[in-house]
Amino acid sequence: MGKTMPTEIALPERSGARLRLVAESDAELMRRWKNENRRFFFHKQEITPEQQLAWFRTYLTRPDDHNYAVEERLGSGYETVGLLACRLLQDTVDIYNVMRGKRTAPAVVSMGDTLKLFCSEIARFYSVPITCNVLKNNPAIGWYLRNGFVQRGDAPDHVVLRYNGNEVGTT
Ligand SMILES: CC(C)(COP(=O)(O)OP(=O)(O)OC[C@H]1O[C@@H](n2cnc3c(N)ncnc32)[C@H](O)[C@@H]1OP(=O)(O)O)[C@@H](O)C(=O)NCCC(=O)NCCS
Repeated sequence: MGKTMPTEIALPERSGARLRLVAESDAELMRRWKNENRRFFFHKQEITPEQQLAWFRTYLTRPDDHNYAVEERLGSGYETVGLLACRLLQDTVDIYNVMRGKRTAPAVVSMGDTLKLFCSEIARFYSVPITCNVLKNNPAIGWYLRNGFVQRGDAPDHVVLRYNGNEVGTT
């Protein structure tokens, strides 16, 4: 089954980067980065290669679930430096699997700018709020707030953030 959003999302030329829908060949890198960052995520158990592959194959069947590799230009090709994902839930698009896996020497890619462009692209396909649940012990909360998100909810262990970048002033 195909995905609703495009295989590739071009970013401004000066950013030297693009977003590419992940393929099964990315599954192992995604697993490694997810495990390395698991203290920041709700899922705390180490993911095994078998579990990752099973997840990936089910993920492919969900048309409104999109995992993108953030790619930085390297020579005549690209290298993956991060991940960004979104999935349609009941009445929101949930941002998840957000990670910088690699900081290259030139560090040309701003994950923050990339996130904002990603949210603008999501808004072209889905007309529901874009939200994100972030654990309260994650310093990334400040990063989301600096990049167009506002707090909309408060649970015991996490905050609910909502992207406000396309509708500044909306309460
Ligand atoms: C959240 C996360 C993706 C943000 O990545 P990031 O690389 O820090 O994000 P950015 O590229 O936007 O850079 C953030 C800041 O670092 C600075 N920076 C960028 N490259 C840098 C470098 N090479 N050296 C030092 N600082 C650098 C930027 O100037 C920016 O500053 P600003 O926020 O004042 O503008 C990253 O911290 C991460 O992977 N966290 C672990 C996983 C996680 O918690 N994900 C979210 C779960 S909800």
